[in-house]
Amino acid sequence: MFILTQFLLVFSQEITWTNYSFAFPQFIPLIADKTVFSRTFEDFGQILNISIEYNGDYEESICNFEYQSIVFRKHPETLIALINDMQYVDIDNLKTEDIEQGFSEEIISYTIKNRDVILLEKNGTIYHLQYNVVPKLANYTTHQLQIIQDGYENQIVLADNDSYYYVDQHQLIQFTIKNDTLEQFKILNWKKVNGHFKFFVREQLFYLINGNQGLTVYKVLNNVLIKINEYDIEIFSKSFSNTKLNLVDYALEDDFLYLLDQENGVYRLNVTSMNLDRKFFIAQKGCKVISVRNKQIILIQQNQLFSEVYEGRIIDDGWVIIRMRTISKLIIRNIYQFNNFALLISNPTNNVYQKSLIDSLTDPSLIKGDNFYQMELLGVSELDENFVIGIYRYGVAIYFKQERSAQITCQARLSQQNRVTIRLNSTNCLNKNQSDAFNYCQSRLDYVFDIHGVLMSSQQEDLYIYLCVVAFSIVVGLFLAIFFIIRRYQMKKEMIYNLRKSRRSLSY
Ligand SMILES: *[C@@H]1O[C@H](CO)[C@@H](O)[C@H](O)[C@H]1NC(C)=O
Ligand SMILES: *[C@@H]1O[C@H](CO)[C@@H](O)[C@H](O)[C@H]1NC(C)=O
Ligand SMILES: *[C@@H]1O[C@H](CO)[C@@H](O)[C@H](O)[C@H]1NC(C)=O
Ligand SMILES: *[C@@H]1O[C@H](CO)[C@@H](O)[C@H](O)[C@H]1NC(C)=O
Ligand SMILES: *[C@@H]1O[C@H](CO)[C@@H](O)[C@H](O)[C@H]1NC(C)=O
Ligand SMILES: *[C@@H]1O[C@H](CO)[C@@H](O)[C@H](O)[C@H]1NC(C)=O
Repeated sequence: MFILTQFLLVFSQEITWTNYSFAFPQFIPLIADKTVFSRTFEDFGQILNISIEYNGDYEESICNFEYQSIVFRKHPETLIALINDMQYVDIDNLKTEDIEQGFSEEIISYTIKNRDVILLEKNGTIYHLQYNVVPKLANYTTHQLQIIQDGYENQIVLADNDSYYYVDQHQLIQFTIKNDTLEQFKILNWKKVNGHFKFFVREQLFYLINGNQGLTVYKVLNNVLIKINEYDIEIFSKSFSNTKLNLVDYALEDDFLYLLDQENGVYRLNVTSMNLDRKFFIAQKGCKVISVRNKQIILIQQNQLFSEVYEGRIIDDGWVIIRMRTISKLIIRNIYQFNNFALLISNPTNNVYQKSLIDSLTDPSLIKGDNFYQMELLGVSELDENFVIGIYRYGVAIYFKQERSAQITCQARLSQQNRVTIRLNSTNCLNKNQSDAFNYCQSRLDYVFDIHGVLMSSQQEDLYIYLCVVAFSIVVGLFLAIFFIIRRYQMKKEMIYNLRKSRRSLSY
């Protein structure tokens, strides 16, 4: 799939620059062909562009630079195919058709709490997977939920502090899994929901987001669902004078619930005070998917043949768009944001998207975007710093994930002195104004590489060792010779002495 960069001026925010440079050039002694200088650029955030200048005795490009990247690799033997008879088949090697034919049943929803993964199959089968810290699958059980089998529409599983929930159009069920048994309780007073909806629980409050019906907040008391708040079209039209409403997706961060209205844009609600933030609004029509992490927001607008990806930053009562990209022929169903990268989950391929880059300031090679191909992911979730769990329609797999910062390595072939000036534009540096999200850095880092030749070649080294051995042998030989000479001299002396002694005793 191709990502086309839109050559529109979407970025309207003024960029301010902070200059950063070393107080003195750093002096680095190296041995040609032998030692390597290497450093990473964590302190500089995302590097947008770099230039490296050499000023040395030879025109030798001694440094090699790599931009920040993400590694996302399936951890061997962690794939668990739950819904097929082809256990341990490598899914990445199957074609989409194989998969679709092979699995008429499929996982349609999942929820993850700590290291417990709950997967829901369409017919009500629940898979409970427990991972340990390595991570490795520690325990895996299968259960059956008793659900009214009346059109499996909009089925979702969710997790609260100590229970799980299942919901569809017709019913809301609470369940727990203890000692390998599933116990379920029906929550009363659930009213049939028409149309597509989203449902989640947070601190024992249930949020139902339902298209043009708006948002309703519930509580469960003695197994009965009780409505405690409602935000309908009237509230939105009074606050924002919008006459239409279609809430399609949401994102949660800190105190805020961001509500995506396909007709108008993004609203937000403070979930602690339960107040609609009447000042905040993002006017971006036609979007279907939202994701927010560290105030970085991604919205997806789906069109018939392509999708638009809008990336922005939430500032004050709205946002600033950083980038807009067109991704051809993809329907993006879900987004997972890491720190500097985002995974755009679509069918059947997923794109890795690098965040925080501003087109007009960025090395074009970075903007092209990486693609990688995985099949049928429903979503991903981070298990810990290094591992991500990927949920498919037919099973799960663990992925090793590592966000790597930019890196430079320098090594010379020739003996020389080379002053290397690195200029980079980046999102961060030591003296940046941290309260200004659009304060970027232009840094200048000077290194003086003092490169000496090795003392001798390996042939010379061999000769040297040989000569050393010879010299050593000569020294040892000499030493032994001197020793024998001295010894002989002593022995002679003794002999003469003895002779004299015997002669003297004879003369008496
Ligand atoms: C950094 O950005 C400035 C301002 O846009 C530009 O003039 C300069 O060439 C850039 N430097 C590098 C190394 O990209
Ligand atoms: C649901 O499907 C699975 C196979 O995918 C099967 O093992 C299970 O018995 C089914 N449950 C019901 C209630 O039909
Ligand atoms: C697996 O679950 C069983 C029953 O819940 C429990 O007794 C056992 O300790 C678990 N095993 C591991 C490795 O966690
Ligand atoms: C949300 O509301 C609570 C309670 O009124 C308040 O303490 C908190 O500061 C609000 N959060 C934000 C981010 O405004
Ligand atoms: C990146 O840096 C190079 C070298 O300084 C410069 O020629 C180029 O214009 C820069 N590109 C952008 C997009 O700033
Ligand atoms: C840092 O950025 C903030 C927000 O833009 C601005 O108000 C402040 O004056 C800046 N501080 C300095 C020292 O430039």
